[in-house]
Amino acid sequence: MIERVTDVSAVLEASALFDAPARVEWAARFLAQPGHHLLVAYVDGQPAGMVTGVELTHPDKGTEMLLYELGVDEAFRRRGIGKALVDALAGLARERGCYGMFVLTERENVAAMQTYRSTGTSAESDHVMLSWEF
Ligand SMILES: CC(C)(COP(=O)(O)OP(=O)(O)OC[C@H]1O[C@@H](n2cnc3c(N)ncnc32)[C@H](O)[C@@H]1OP(=O)(O)O)[C@@H](O)C(=O)NCCC(=O)NCCS
Repeated sequence: MIERVTDVSAVLEASALFDAPARVEWAARFLAQPGHHLLVAYVDGQPAGMVTGVELTHPDKGTEMLLYELGVDEAFRRRGIGKALVDALAGLARERGCYGMFVLTERENVAAMQTYRSTGTSAESDHVMLSWEF
C-alpha cells in the first residue's frame, strides 16, 4: 500500500528509509511546502520504501516534478516496490498538472537505472551535476 504522508510523525516513523534520520524541524518544513511530496510504501503496516518529489516551475516551461529521492529497505527490494513508488509519483505529477518528471542518478547504479527504465522513461542524457556547499 502506498500512502502520501502529510504528518511529521509518519515521516519520523519512516526515518530509517532516508540516508540519515529525519529531523522534526526539517520534516515539518518539507511537509509545509506546497509541491513537496513524500510517498511511503507500507508492507504489513511497516514502512518499506519511500519516494520524495518536488514540483519545480519555470516561467517559460510550466511545472515539472523532480523525483528527489527513492529508497527501498534492503529486506523489501526486488518485489516491485521501487517501481510502484515511481509510478505513484508519476501519477501524482500528472494529477497536479506537471508536464513531466525527471531524476538525477548515477549510470552505474544498476538497480536505480533498471527501476527508472522499467517505468517507461522516455529520455536519458549525460548532464553533469555541479554543486555549491554552504
Ligand atoms: C533502486 C531501488 C529503489 C529499487 O527498489 P526495488 O523495490 O528493489 O525495485 P523493484 O523491485 O521495483 O525493481 C524495478 C526494476 O528494476 C530491476 N532491479 C531492481 N534492482 C535491481 C538490481 N539490483 N539489479 C538489476 N535489476 C534490478 C527489477 O528487476 C525491476 O525490473 P523489471 O520491472 O524489468 O522486472 C533500491 O535498490 C534502493 O533503495 N537502492 C538504494 C537507494 C538508491 O540507489 N536509490 C536511487 C537513487 S537515485
